[in-house]
Amino acid sequence: MSNKPEGTGIDSVLNESRRFAPSDDFAGRAHMGSLDEYHKLHARSIEDPGSFWAEIAGHLDWFTPWDKVLEWEAPDARWFVGGTTNLCHNCVDRQVNASMGEQTAIIWEGEPMDGGEPEIRRLSYADLQRETAKFANVLKSLGVKKGDVVTIYMGMVPELAIAMLACARIGAPHSIIFGGFSASAIADRVKDADSRVIITCDGSWRRGNVVPLKDNVDAACRQVDTIEHVVVYQRVANPVEWHHEPSESHNNKRDHWWHDLMLAASADCPCEPMDSEDLLFVLYTSGTTGKPKGIMHTTGGYMVYTYYTSRIAFDMHANLNQVYWCTADIGWITGHSYIIYGILPNCVPTLMYEGAPNHPGPDRFWDIVERHEVTQFYTAPTAIRAFMKWGDEHPKAHDLTSLRVLGTVGEPINPEAWMWYHQVIGQERCPIVDTWWQTETGGHMITPLPGATPTKPGSCTLPFFGVDVAIVNEKGEELPNNTGGLLAIRRPWPSMLRGILGDRDRFIETYWSDIRTESGEIYYKAGDGARRDDDGYFWIMGRIDDVINVSGHRLGTMEVESALVAHDTVVEAAVVGMHHEIKGTGIAAFCTLAPGVKPDADLRDTLRSHVANEIGAIAKPDMIRFTDALPKTRSGKIMRRLLKDIAEGRESTGDTTTLEDLSVLAKIRESDE
Ligand code: PRX
Repeated sequence: MSNKPEGTGIDSVLNESRRFAPSDDFAGRAHMGSLDEYHKLHARSIEDPGSFWAEIAGHLDWFTPWDKVLEWEAPDARWFVGGTTNLCHNCVDRQVNASMGEQTAIIWEGEPMDGGEPEIRRLSYADLQRETAKFANVLKSLGVKKGDVVTIYMGMVPELAIAMLACARIGAPHSIIFGGFSASAIADRVKDADSRVIITCDGSWRRGNVVPLKDNVDAACRQVDTIEHVVVYQRVANPVEWHHEPSESHNNKRDHWWHDLMLAASADCPCEPMDSEDLLFVLYTSGTTGKPKGIMHTTGGYMVYTYYTSRIAFDMHANLNQVYWCTADIGWITGHSYIIYGILPNCVPTLMYEGAPNHPGPDRFWDIVERHEVTQFYTAPTAIRAFMKWGDEHPKAHDLTSLRVLGTVGEPINPEAWMWYHQVIGQERCPIVDTWWQTETGGHMITPLPGATPTKPGSCTLPFFGVDVAIVNEKGEELPNNTGGLLAIRRPWPSMLRGILGDRDRFIETYWSDIRTESGEIYYKAGDGARRDDDGYFWIMGRIDDVINVSGHRLGTMEVESALVAHDTVVEAAVVGMHHEIKGTGIAAFCTLAPGVKPDADLRDTLRSHVANEIGAIAKPDMIRFTDALPKTRSGKIMRRLLKDIAEGRESTGDTTTLEDLSVLAKIRESDE
């Protein structure tokens, strides 16, 4: 018997040998200025995580000190055990107390450019303190108490930041739902979290159109009966329905204007001392079943880790006139961690932009970078590919010399897009941090440090401090370099998920069951395939489960399938990811129809809108094919690999011997797109 670990059958093909080292100038001023320093500190963080993380946690304010840095009994971690703190305090009040109240915390730019100028708002830490305290009192006046989950469904306005910080201030965990999700998606999440209060906007601007957020909330409220209060921030002044009648379970009015409630609210609301392990928020993300999972993040560890990764990966300095911009929506984990919670404690202004990257023209982002002299810019590969397509003349028309660090997140970046980002946006001067992480990890896990790590286009490079990553097979055996395998994390890290809301079994089954060593240790399974090269650099190869990454947003193929079969014309559906030039992965749906239903273009449009209504526009299939039957194994499992080949226009080269009826494939190939 050989000692070689068994492989996982994940093949790695990318071969990229270019390397880009940080300039001496950049390295000289960075927090982490050499690869040696990184390696030494990484080794220390792994050997003695207790002293390492205690030192970092000491940069922030705690109301009572912790007794122990970590208690770990896989899969349950408790960080900074016994300590109390408050994340809103560390984002806002701490700066006010340190005489920085007048400095800018948030720069906001609205989408409309009427008259050629956008609306800009700047909120200082003192403004944020006043507004969050007032809104925290509003929440209390509506009966919200520590531990109650508050749902937030808003556009990208400063009030979204205020609402989430107000929740953190009083210890009410928030559940933020991306404004692109539909009424049904809101209803499912509200039900799952048993939430009684929703905060929304009348509407939000997107590419010059109004997204009717309040209408969607009204429709969601018709599907659940737990909602007692809806607070509406007026952003676009579109007509909205108003519910004056008492709700069944409460005597007060259901709908309230944000501005009315704020008028009466006091600005005095001390931050609630929170146990380090108290729930900070729930954020839903897709998995391999039709039901999204409520990922739970707690207070202390998440605070310390997002603060420190922001500081080191984006090289944040409070005193260098930096302006940081992450283009994500706060409705995703990227926005939670790297627009608000990790950034504000670093005392660097965080820029929030309300709208689309191509409104009113395809140069809008570069216009913003120039106007605000952005120093750190963090976006997704899908956006970068769109910019490439729109043409170099748009960034070239703007002064981008303020930029120092560029970041990407959400999906693997193809080397061509990386090179374009490096040359056209970074002007060959700015290090690129390709950050690999997940909703579940809370913060960056594998990322270059801009002053220390030489980068290679397409690689997220090396693990962050305290992170122990390995490429393994299901027995937890490490695979040789350059062999594709499962990406596993072998030790706890401060911002790791603490569970799935209300579903302990799914938490264990999804993340903590598949990789088990012979001695019985279990590792965190990220759900990605990856390889490590001879320099120890990681290369992410993509999801290994039925989760796809559309424009950097995660979707379960099962979710889209469930939406399709919920339509009465569809009997069975199979959804797979397919290569897409801009989105990275597009959605291909194969549907069998009920008897007598006509498979035509109208039906395709109907089904696409139906999926948008059920989930949201991001889930609309890019291709729908109608077929009499789906390719299945003899045991009835749909052979998605073959469907992916068809969607991408390839002949199937793999094994088809388990296919029940070979003629099915030929028929699907003949069907129109
Ligand atoms: O497949 C990986 C991909 O996005 C997944 C996580 O998605 P989500 O929880 O929505 O979080 C996205 C933002 C953190 C991962 O399992 N992914 C994320 N970042 C990268 C990436 N794939 C390759 N390179 C990255 N930098």
